[in-house]
Amino acid sequence: MAVSVYLVFFAVFLAIIFIVHRSSRCRRLRLPPGSLGLPFVGETLQLISAYKTENPEPFIDDRVNRFGSLFTTHIFGEPTVFSVDPETNRFILQNEGKLFECSYPGSISNLLGKHSLLLMKGNLHKKMHSLTMSFANSSIIRDHLLVDIDRLIRLNLDSWSDRVLLMEEAKKITFELTMKQLMSFDPCEWTENLRKEYVLVIEGFFSVPLPIFSPTYRRAIKARTKVAEALSLVVKQRRIESESGEKKKDMLGALLASDDHGGFSDEEIVDFLVALLVAGYETTSTSMTLAVKFLTETPLALAQIKEEHEQIRAKKGEGEALEWSDYKSMTFTLCVVNETLRIANIIGGIFRRTMTDINVKGYTIPKGWKVFASFRGVHLDHEYFKDARTFNPWRWQNDSGATCPANVFTPFGGGQRLCPGYELARVELSVFLHHLVTRFSIQANWKLIFACKLVFPTVGIRLKKISWFSFQLRGHRSDIPSMCSVEIVSKPCKVLEQKRKYCRRTVIL
Ligand code: HEM
Ligand SMILES: *[C@@H]1O[C@H](CO)[C@@H](O)[C@H](O)[C@H]1NC(C)=O
Ligand SMILES: *[C@@H]1O[C@H](CO)[C@@H](O)[C@H](O)[C@H]1NC(C)=O
Ligand SMILES: *[C@@H]1O[C@H](CO)[C@@H](O)[C@H](O)[C@H]1NC(C)=O
Repeated sequence: MAVSVYLVFFAVFLAIIFIVHRSSRCRRLRLPPGSLGLPFVGETLQLISAYKTENPEPFIDDRVNRFGSLFTTHIFGEPTVFSVDPETNRFILQNEGKLFECSYPGSISNLLGKHSLLLMKGNLHKKMHSLTMSFANSSIIRDHLLVDIDRLIRLNLDSWSDRVLLMEEAKKITFELTMKQLMSFDPCEWTENLRKEYVLVIEGFFSVPLPIFSPTYRRAIKARTKVAEALSLVVKQRRIESESGEKKKDMLGALLASDDHGGFSDEEIVDFLVALLVAGYETTSTSMTLAVKFLTETPLALAQIKEEHEQIRAKKGEGEALEWSDYKSMTFTLCVVNETLRIANIIGGIFRRTMTDINVKGYTIPKGWKVFASFRGVHLDHEYFKDARTFNPWRWQNDSGATCPANVFTPFGGGQRLCPGYELARVELSVFLHHLVTRFSIQANWKLIFACKLVFPTVGIRLKKISWFSFQLRGHRSDIPSMCSVEIVSKPCKVLEQKRKYCRRTVIL
């Protein structure tokens, strides 16, 4: 009797301890509000199906309305805290390596290569990041890269045939530019063959969720080996040349010249180059495509950008290359570029993992959790941008950076992982638009296909929309540059029909 009373007492005591402990822990660990959805799959399916609609930010909109700008969800097998709050996003970016770190599934690391900048951490990352920044800083672009950007874009537009899928052309241009910048290769059969393999590697990033079952992923791994082999032959050759004193001013040259800890191995250099090829590819080419889309939907903006570039052209001889001062004078174009990046940045945000319990805005995010700092969600928030969902390049005029607080516009991320290509991408986009609008007249009539893709350009898994455009080229080409005309096919669906096979293959998931 006495023993059982004692036991009951003990059990009650334990229960009280447990409850007190739990509630205090709960108070300490107050998660941001939200819903974890179903067991295991969480809200992944909602996420995927939301992005098949035309609303640019459906998943986030819905949850911000219900829970506010910091909410908890469960996607891709893990609880994840979403931040659509500029202050929190800034906090995440600024504390890279201290409170947050990037983390990747193994399938991604295998595709990137273990010495990729995207996977590096700590001091090595710091050093390599600044090396990359200095390879594409504005003085380097001005003195070395611009002339080739101008030439290669011109060359590409010259070769446009009757029908052009803009997205495809933009990708080709972007790849060729990167090959030139990284290792001084002009487009040739070799680069074109490499690009074919490379496209397979890129598709591997889109097959992320179930790599083991995915033939796309296996093909990507094979293709990556081929790309790496091809690149390592180049590296070997260049190492020999550089030892005999022949130095080229490109990224590969900078890597070979670096003699920190006895220089880099061939494997390290190859991984590094692959990462750079990956990071700038989808991003820049999608921005090119979408800039054209928005311009054709906004005839006033198209007219104004055309005038700006005609003025630049008028001051130059026929076929004369653009110079840095020309780029700097493209004031309206840079507004168009910013507005495109704001509204349609394909990198919707970045994934990070917490390295410790994080207290933010009165909530606690537990150690080891995923966070997603949504840039696009902020860019499309009416609180920070008036009529945020309309394309309005004029909002950037009159130095209206002042109208939105700092750190609200972050298409290139920030902090220690700020995109090293941020200026390069702007220059490439501007030069592309220059040649496009001065050579062709574009009339809009196209159809957009929104598609959901799990994308991995830099960190984790991202969502993106892709858009296919068809052009019809009429008239002459560069022999009489300003008289050419491009007309977007009036019944784009027909063209798309022919391309459907291609689309299907790409629009996976
Ligand atoms: C419109 C075009 C582009 C956009 C929107 C973009 C956006 C971004 C963003 C948001 C990040 C940060 C990722 C993170 O914090 O985890 C990033 C990183 C990076 N970007 Fe870009 N990017 C663009 C073009 C380029 C180009 C042309 C290059 C080529 C030089 C490039 C190279 C990189 C690299 C190497 C990183 C990784 C930096 C690191 O982890 O330290 N990007 N980019
Ligand atoms: C750009 O990088 C180069 C080295 O690659 C350096 O000499 C130069 O000072 C840098 N320029 C700017 C504006 O940071
Ligand atoms: C575009 O955005 C950047 C911030 O990323 C800003 O520094 C720049 O002034 C903007 N350009 C224009 C033309 O407003
Ligand atoms: C910018 O300034 C010009 C003249 O200074 C004015 O006509 C224009 O409306 C202003 N634009 C914006 C967006 O404030």
